[in-house]
Amino acid sequence: MQDYETMEPDARAALLAELRVEYEAAKAKNLKLDMSRGKPGAEQLALSAGLHDPALLSPPQSENGLDCRNYGVLEGIPEARRLFAELLDLPPEQLIVCGNSSLSLMYDYLAQCMLFGAGGAPWCAQGKVKFLCPVPGYDRHFTILEQLGIEMINIPLRAGVPDIALVEQYARDESVKGLICVPKYSNPAGSTFSDETVRRLAALRPAANDFRIIWDNAYLVHDLYDETEPLLNILAAAGEYGTQDQCIVVTSFSKISFPGAAVSALAASPANIAAVLRRMNAQTIGYDKLNQLRHARFFRDAAGVRAHMHLHAQILRPKFEAVLAIFERDLRGSGVASWTAPRGGYFISLDLPHGCAKRTHALCKAAGVTLTGAGATFPYGRDPEDKNLRIAPTYPPLAELRQAAALLTLCARIAALEGLT
Ligand SMILES: Cc1ncc(COP(=O)(O)O)c(C=O)c1O
Repeated sequence: MQDYETMEPDARAALLAELRVEYEAAKAKNLKLDMSRGKPGAEQLALSAGLHDPALLSPPQSENGLDCRNYGVLEGIPEARRLFAELLDLPPEQLIVCGNSSLSLMYDYLAQCMLFGAGGAPWCAQGKVKFLCPVPGYDRHFTILEQLGIEMINIPLRAGVPDIALVEQYARDESVKGLICVPKYSNPAGSTFSDETVRRLAALRPAANDFRIIWDNAYLVHDLYDETEPLLNILAAAGEYGTQDQCIVVTSFSKISFPGAAVSALAASPANIAAVLRRMNAQTIGYDKLNQLRHARFFRDAAGVRAHMHLHAQILRPKFEAVLAIFERDLRGSGVASWTAPRGGYFISLDLPHGCAKRTHALCKAAGVTLTGAGATFPYGRDPEDKNLRIAPTYPPLAELRQAAALLTLCARIAALEGLT
């Protein structure tokens, strides 16, 4: 395929006219395809059907004899803590097993810092406070920060990892209170932080002594292939640098079992675990321990989780590969797009020429393909270059996904050619 920019203007105009005919024909089909949200498909959900087996709750006592049908054990039942501890490679005492959502854990933790502080004065009493946000990133992180009135600063991902020199530079400002990130198979780039990145984050000496790194390890076991991309344990690394209090780790089983009905965990230094438990003690008498028990008995241990995730990968790999093959076929060589080819996680990040993401999104929408909003991968929904789109291949069945991806590349080519004409 010839690079669009080096084409003769007449050839470009002819190609644009040709693609527009193709687009009108596709539009006439009145399709309704959705590549917008990173949800597991029905086939993946079926893998966890065994969680409904009533035998999993018989007897209803956890291994320490506690009746899971009743109140108590705010920090989570021992077998669920052990399961998360094995996955996160941490002592069980350094984590709390909670309810269904890690997003609520992040929201509540940040709200706690705003209201009560993180060892210092409440953030809300310190004037303007700011957070560092690797971009492109997860839209819901940005929604939390925006709602709490925390100003967001973009930190570009370079070769899949945050620009650490820039992080170190911003961290010299006392009003910068932290960084929020997805360190493994990131949302949306699908990249994993290198050991050096993790070490430099763990070694960070920010001006603010109440600085927090929110380490959203949502995709820790979500490999698409047999080999995982290893991620250094930030709490262990921080232990070496004496900065454990700076790191708050969260994760969940949302995309292992059932989103909205799974279990989550927060891991941190002993001092932070104690502080979080004090706040939670006012918030709830305890989380859903029956669900913790069900999950612990169904998955048993980290090996059980990995075997289960292998089944997820068998469903997801063909979906990712189908989208990537269509990108290769339709966009490679045109000079109008670059994209990530993740080895795990839930997303592909697609970069288009400056100023083309919104137009591509609108063209897709008009032709019946729903994508995550252009700009959503940046704080305040503002992509400064209007070029990034998050592609979520997991939910639609394969045949629909192929149609949607082909329509997307058609729209991207039209938008790019319009920009050049
Ligand atoms: C990076 C990341 N973190 C958190 C979540 C939500 O997790 P939970 O269901 O545990 O709230 C998602 C869901 O897409 C995600 O992509």
